[in-house]
Order: sequence, then structure tokens, then C-alpha cells
Amino acid sequence: MEMEIVRTNNDQSETAKNKNEVVISIKGLKKSFGEKDVLKDINLELKRGENIVVLGRSGTGKSVTIQCIVGLLKQDAGSLTVFGDEVADMDDKQLKELRIKIGFLFQSGALYDSMTVRENLEFPLTRVLKLTDQAEIDKRVEEALDGVGLLEAIDKMPSDLSGGMRKRAGLARTIIVNPEIILYDEPTTGLDPITSREISDLILSIQKKYKTSSIIITHDMECARIAADRMMIMDNGEFIAEGTFESLHKSNNKIVASFFKDIL
Ligand SMILES: Nc1ncnc2c1ncn2[C@@H]1O[C@H](COP(=O)(O)OP(=O)(O)OP(=O)(O)O)[C@@H](O)[C@H]1O
Ligand SMILES: [Mg+2]
Repeated sequence: MEMEIVRTNNDQSETAKNKNEVVISIKGLKKSFGEKDVLKDINLELKRGENIVVLGRSGTGKSVTIQCIVGLLKQDAGSLTVFGDEVADMDDKQLKELRIKIGFLFQSGALYDSMTVRENLEFPLTRVLKLTDQAEIDKRVEEALDGVGLLEAIDKMPSDLSGGMRKRAGLARTIIVNPEIILYDEPTTGLDPITSREISDLILSIQKKYKTSSIIITHDMECARIAADRMMIMDNGEFIAEGTFESLHKSNNKIVASFFKDIL
């Protein structure tokens, strides 16, 4: 009995410690394309287990920021570390390892059209994780699909899926390699309100179930309300406000208020 109490306490302090761990740290990030200064001064800290929603007008630099995080673009100045390591200094091998730790859900879902849902999910297991045990592969594919409520579509082709099902399949393919961080770029764009809500609920349940940390870029305020622990508002290459949904809802800042204009 006593042993159990002691262990519980340890677990709690361990959780508290992990909760404060910064998994992504961005300081003074700048990025220009030719004459155009896109990222001017980006600062962000993503903590372990946290969901940050990033709002911002079109063309303000949200996707460029995400592409810097996974090393697809390199900043001109400033620091960007993931688990303490500077992404811009990583070699190809380190970038490969980084992209296993960071799942990236593209806007389109990006499934391979010529492969079934099952084959799409096997792909990262065999190609990225180099798994060979077919029983283990089958088990992980089925678990990931079950986790997004899509097990019945396992042998379907992507063209036979609805937009919402394709997003689910894309999400299953993202979580199947157990990423510690997931970056979502417009996860609900192009979906009807009910399906958007289902995907937003799923983003929240993935955070709880797999203890992932996420940055979610969206224009969908319902998604922000559901999934955000904290929201950050980007404008013209920098963050101009941050806080919870409720606190930003009350903001008098004109740009912040413009995002909440249709929210009761
Ligand atoms: N590889 C690139 N080369 C040149 N310019 C780029 C490149 N990538 C992005 N840009 C420019 O950087 C700016 C910011 O683009 P970004 O895609 O980050 O916007 P965004 O905030 O994601 O917008 P949206 O909400 O429309 O997705 C745009 O003006 C875009 O044209
Ligand atoms: Mg974008």
C-alpha cells in the first residue's frame, strides 16, 4: 500500500517535470524570400503535451514557420531548436530522425492514390521505420486506423473515401510512427462543419491518448476552441498576441478581434 503511494507521487513529479519541458523553441526567427521579409521576428515555445493553435491571415508566414521546424526551409537568422537541437545545423541523418519524431499533416492529406489505405499506412512502417515483421505491421496499421475510426475502410482506395475519411487516413498515417510532435497545417480546410468538428475532436483525442505536443495552423475557430491549450496570433511575420481562446476572445486589439467577429 505504502509502496503504491510513493510510486504515485513519483509519477506526478515526473509528469510535472515533463510538462514544463520545451520541445520546440523558436527565438528571433527571420526568413526572407528575395526582397520579401516573410518572418520578421518569430518567437514560440511549445511545451510537452501542449496544443498551440496558430491563427493568422493568408500569406503571413504560418506555413513557412512550419517548414523551418521540419528543416524544409532554413531561417536567415534566429534560433529554432527541437528537443534542444538546432534544426538548421542538422545533417541529412539527423533530419531523417527529426522527421520521425515530428509528424506533419499536410493540407491535402497527401495519400498515395495508387495504394489502398492499408498500403498507405504500411509505407512509413516499412520505409521509414524499416519494420519487417508482417504481424507487427498488421497490428500497428489496424490500431492506427481504429484510433481514427476508419478500420472498416482498410482495403479501400483513397479515391473511394470522402474528404473527412481521407483526413482521418492521413492522420492515421501520421500517428502510426508514434511521433512526439505533430504539426497540422489547416487540418479542417475544405471540410463541412460537422466533419471539421470530428477532425478537431480527433486532434484533441490524439493529444490525450498519445501525449503528443502539437502546433495546429487553422482558420477554423471551432477547431481552435476545441483543440487549443493556447493560441498565438501571427500577423505580418510576427506573433502579436497569445492566450487562451477565452482570453483572446475578450481582446480589444483590432486584428485579434477580427478572428472572433463571428463567435458569440
Ligand atoms: N519557397 C518560397 N519561395 C518564395 N516565397 C515563398 C516561399 N514559400 C512561401 N513564400 C511566400 O511567403 C509568404 C508566406 O507564405 P506562407 O505559405 O507561410 O503563408 P501562410 O501564412 O501559410 O498563408 P495561408 O494561410 O494562405 O496558408 C507568402 O507571400 C509566400 O508567397
Ligand atoms: Mg499556409
